[in-house]
Amino acid sequence: FLGVLGGTALAAAGCAEISGELLRSRLALPRPFTVPLPIPEVARHVRPGRYELTQRAAKMEIIPGTTTEVLGYGGTFPGPTLDLRRGSRVTVAVRNELSVPTSTHLHGGVTPPGSDGYPTDLVAPGGGAKDYDYPLEQRAATLWYHDHRMDFTAPQVWRGLAGMALVRDDEEDALPLPRGERELPLMICDRAFEEDGSFRYPSPPGGGHSGHTGHMAAVDGDYMEGVEGDVILVNGAPWPVAEVTATRYRLRLLNASNARRYRLRLAPGGRFTQIGSDSGLLAAPVAHDELPISPGERYDVVVDFSAYPVGSAVTLVNTLADGPARNVMRFVVARRAADDTAVPAVLSRPPGRVAPVTTRRFDFRRSAEGVWAINGHPYRPGVPLARPRLGTAEVWRLSSDFHHPVHVHLAHFLVLARNGRAPAAPDAGWKDTVDVRPYEVVDVLARFDGYRGRYMLHCHNLEHEDMAMMADFEVI
Ligand code: C2O
Ligand code: CU
Repeated sequence: FLGVLGGTALAAAGCAEISGELLRSRLALPRPFTVPLPIPEVARHVRPGRYELTQRAAKMEIIPGTTTEVLGYGGTFPGPTLDLRRGSRVTVAVRNELSVPTSTHLHGGVTPPGSDGYPTDLVAPGGGAKDYDYPLEQRAATLWYHDHRMDFTAPQVWRGLAGMALVRDDEEDALPLPRGERELPLMICDRAFEEDGSFRYPSPPGGGHSGHTGHMAAVDGDYMEGVEGDVILVNGAPWPVAEVTATRYRLRLLNASNARRYRLRLAPGGRFTQIGSDSGLLAAPVAHDELPISPGERYDVVVDFSAYPVGSAVTLVNTLADGPARNVMRFVVARRAADDTAVPAVLSRPPGRVAPVTTRRFDFRRSAEGVWAINGHPYRPGVPLARPRLGTAEVWRLSSDFHHPVHVHLAHFLVLARNGRAPAAPDAGWKDTVDVRPYEVVDVLARFDGYRGRYMLHCHNLEHEDMAMMADFEVI
């Protein structure tokens, strides 16, 4: 593992955030808002219904003037965007040319269990391959795909194994929303860099992450909280800038960070009109001044840049951070342009609530032995904590001792309550990931539709996930 990462041991780093301060004089980071926003390539099928993605190591210029080795789908970071259609089944053939095993999960996908990216369902390094089957019997939504290898998801995603996947459908096509160049996928994540430009990631203290090989007790405090970097990347570029016209834009916001949470705001001011959540369009738009987004979550929003004078700079900032990590990216309103788009008052008819058949509790907490666990158990592959029935809904009561962004595979859910009170505005709509805050109890109504079989729920703080804060459930 260490050989693969080739990184400097940073086990003794004194805080959760890896600081670039000392390195800044040697590794010249760009000034914020000087690197143009890249838009990841859209994956092209090799024949209708079949995509081929090869996982390769490649060198990319992330910090201008230096190169960074990435592990990428298609040799790029982010990987190519999968542009998919509801009801059009696809096969994504993943070939692993890396030196480490992988498992690919379509986050938010309603996929058969054999294609879900179970952590031990590995594609062997050095040319192993697997066909992932995505029937896409699901509503239009902003999804993403990423590595899910047992114990090593965090370092492998940090090195680049992630991309976006957009599912579209007729209901959405009929809406007058911004599209084409005015629809921007924005994969937001933080990274830290070594002075030679390579990704900086701490060595797992104790020599491994595994919750079931006995190294847990050796993991030290900063790794416990999750790894953060002080360079914010959007679509793989540091604090980028995008020129926009004074029109509406649709932004597909994804927090692909390992552990960093953001509270996004527009400066000098402005609104996000939320049109969709993790799992598809809302019934009606919701306006926000601020959007909290935890690892794994997505928001589908429209921003109307005609609200700003031509020539203005509109900066996306993270009000949870100070210093360099406060900046995310900037839009520069370059000129006026015609705009025939609108955000209709009625967007879609999402699936309704179904009466729950039972309530189950999942407690995300450090166990008595000091390890990240669910209901007291570090991950036990093959031991389901719940057996919901296909076609039913259940209330899952999620509680925690820390910030744990809880993600459920297969199922989509509505947030019913936080600490017994009505959920907040950003909780609107069907979701697959919810930030459970310290000492909070979040009730969600989860629907189990699609397939029988083995799935999982876990914390999407990727270091917590690797430190065994996962559980199986089986749809029967
Ligand atoms: Cu995005 Cu099981 O993960
Ligand atoms: Cu967690």
